[in-house]
Amino acid sequence: MGDKRSSDAAEVSDDKYSILLPTYNESENLPIIVWLIIKYLTESGYQFEIIIIDDGSPDGTLDVAKQLQKIYGEEKIVLRPRPKKLGLGTAYVHGMKSATGNFIVIMDADLSHHPKFIPQFITKQKEGNYDVVSGTRYIGDGGVYGWDFKRKLVSRGANFLTQLLLRPGASDLTGSFRLYRKHVLEKLVQSCVSKGYVFQMEMIIRARQFGYTIGEVPITFVDRVYGESKLGGSEIFQFVKALLYLFATT
Ligand SMILES: *[C@@H]1O[C@H](CO)[C@@H](O)[C@H](O)[C@H]1NC(C)=O
Repeated sequence: MGDKRSSDAAEVSDDKYSILLPTYNESENLPIIVWLIIKYLTESGYQFEIIIIDDGSPDGTLDVAKQLQKIYGEEKIVLRPRPKKLGLGTAYVHGMKSATGNFIVIMDADLSHHPKFIPQFITKQKEGNYDVVSGTRYIGDGGVYGWDFKRKLVSRGANFLTQLLLRPGASDLTGSFRLYRKHVLEKLVQSCVSKGYVFQMEMIIRARQFGYTIGEVPITFVDRVYGESKLGGSEIFQFVKALLYLFATT
């Protein structure tokens, strides 16, 4: 723990990646995402484990996870279920307690984040010895699928406003597909108070505040839940409120 930079560049071969997958009602997607993670990371030759944190899904996600553990083994699939939905930040803390990797990858289990990008995150991390590598929809080949024009406009506008006010040194603030040094993520989770996607924004802004280095990799993001979570006025209001809070405290 602590915020000291431990650059283990000399021991690259010892690096291990713990992929945290918080799940809720993902019984259909889980076998696919796990298969893809294993495929891409095995091909790249990295050491890794997948930690599934299921928050009491009523659709049998945990049973599916147990089957996957039987198939791939307890070394690769670690189960850390919780009785009910308790929030993303605490899911990360809970999952990290069992993590044996020195790096943590955070991603959504609903297939909006493609595992093929994980080896690219790792390459980027090694290139610049970064503390954090963040997926970005806003540079290079990055992009979003499944959003209508209004949603894209609001997202762009929010990002622009945040860039202007907070100068975070990262182009995508509300995305959640990232790689962190383990002790860096521990420190960030401890110091962040926001909820939901604002939490992701606070994480990257605090990372900057603490002087951590951030690398970026363009990603495509496919929104799977947009149909169910329409963007409303209250969501925009929450965002602006959070922005002002961060502006005032960083
Ligand atoms: C989760 O799945 C259960 C059972 O399939 C369903 O009744 C419930 O509405 C789902 N909840 C959410 C938030 O999707």
